[in-house]
Amino acid sequence: MFQRRKALTRLPWTQDEEELLIRLSKQRLPVRKIANIYFPHRTFPSIKNKLRKLKKKHGLYDHDHRDLKHEINERWIKEVFMQKGRPLKILDGYAGSGGSLIKYLPYSNIACACEINKSNFEMLVKNVLNFINGKIVNEGHIGSFKVVEVCGKGRHVICFKGDIERVASLLYAFKWNFDFIDLDPCGSCMFVIPIALKLLKAGYLAVTYGQLHLARLRRLDVLIKECPWIGNHVTMSETLKFLIKWTVYEGLRFQRACDTKILHVDEIIPLPRWPQGIVRVLFRVSTSDALADALNNFEREKAYIDKLVDAIRR
Ligand SMILES: C[S@@+](CC[C@H](N)C(=O)[O-])C[C@H]1O[C@@H](n2cnc3c(N)ncnc32)[C@H](O)[C@@H]1O
Repeated sequence: MFQRRKALTRLPWTQDEEELLIRLSKQRLPVRKIANIYFPHRTFPSIKNKLRKLKKKHGLYDHDHRDLKHEINERWIKEVFMQKGRPLKILDGYAGSGGSLIKYLPYSNIACACEINKSNFEMLVKNVLNFINGKIVNEGHIGSFKVVEVCGKGRHVICFKGDIERVASLLYAFKWNFDFIDLDPCGSCMFVIPIALKLLKAGYLAVTYGQLHLARLRRLDVLIKECPWIGNHVTMSETLKFLIKWTVYEGLRFQRACDTKILHVDEIIPLPRWPQGIVRVLFRVSTSDALADALNNFEREKAYIDKLVDAIRR
C-alpha cells in the first residue's frame, strides 16, 4: 500500500541560507557534510531539493558532467552523420541554453530545439544566432508556443518555447520527421518517448535517464509510474536496466498501420559518479513490418541490455 507523500518540512528558506548553500556547494563540499555542519535543523532531502533548484537557477545543475556529455554528443552526432552521409534533421527536445545543440549544428541543415524555461530559451536563441552567425527570419506564436526561426551558414534552426510533448505532437501533426532526436531532461522523459518515436523513421534517439537519482532516494512510487517492472529492493543497476528495457518496449508498442519500431541499444554511457549519477543511452531506431521480428528483437535486446549494464558495474 502506498502512502501519500507529505512535505517533510515547511520551514521557509531565507536568502542568506540559500546563498550559503550555493557557496558551499561551489566549494565542492559533500552535501552530507553541508547538512550536518550548517543545516542541522533541516532534513537531508529538503537540502538536496533546495540545492537542485538553486543549481538550476544559477546554471550549475549538470556542471560536473556537462563537458563530458557534450563530448559524447559530438562523437555520437559525427557517427550518425557518417552513417547517413548527409546533413541531419535534428530535434533537441530539452535544449537548455543550447550547449548540445551547438555541437550538433555543424552536422545539420535543419534543426528544431525546444525549451520550456524563459531565460534558457532566450539564451538558446542568442547562442544559436552567434554560432551560425545568423538572422531571425521569423518570430511569432503557434498556439501558445513562442517560435523563433534563425537562418545562417546554410542552416535553418527553429526554436520553440514550450513543453516538448506538445511541440513534438505539433511537429508530428505537420508530418515532420528527424534523423536524430535528443531527449536530455533533468528528470524523466519517459512520457515523451512514444511521440519521439513517431518523429523518427529510421534514425537515432539519445536519452538521458535523469530519474535514476529517484532509485537512490527510494522513491518507488515515482519509479513504478515510470516503469511498472521496477519493484521493491531493486538496485541502481536493475533500475537502469528496467528503464532502458521499457524504452525498447515502447518501440514494440508503437503502431502505425502494420509497422512497429525496433530499438537497438548502440551505447550506454554513465556520466560521472555512477551509480550515483545519470546515464545517457543512444538507441538506433528502425521500422519493422512484422511484429514477430520486433518481439524477437525485444528478447535479444533485453539480454544485451543486461550485459551492457553489468559491464558498467565492473
Ligand atoms: C539538462 S537541461 C538540458 C541541457 C542541454 N541539453 C545541454 O546539453 O546543454 C534540461 C532542460 O530541459 C528544460 N525542460 C524541462 N522540462 C521541459 C519540457 N517539458 N519541455 C521542454 N523543456 C523542458 C529545462 O528548463 C532545462 O533547461
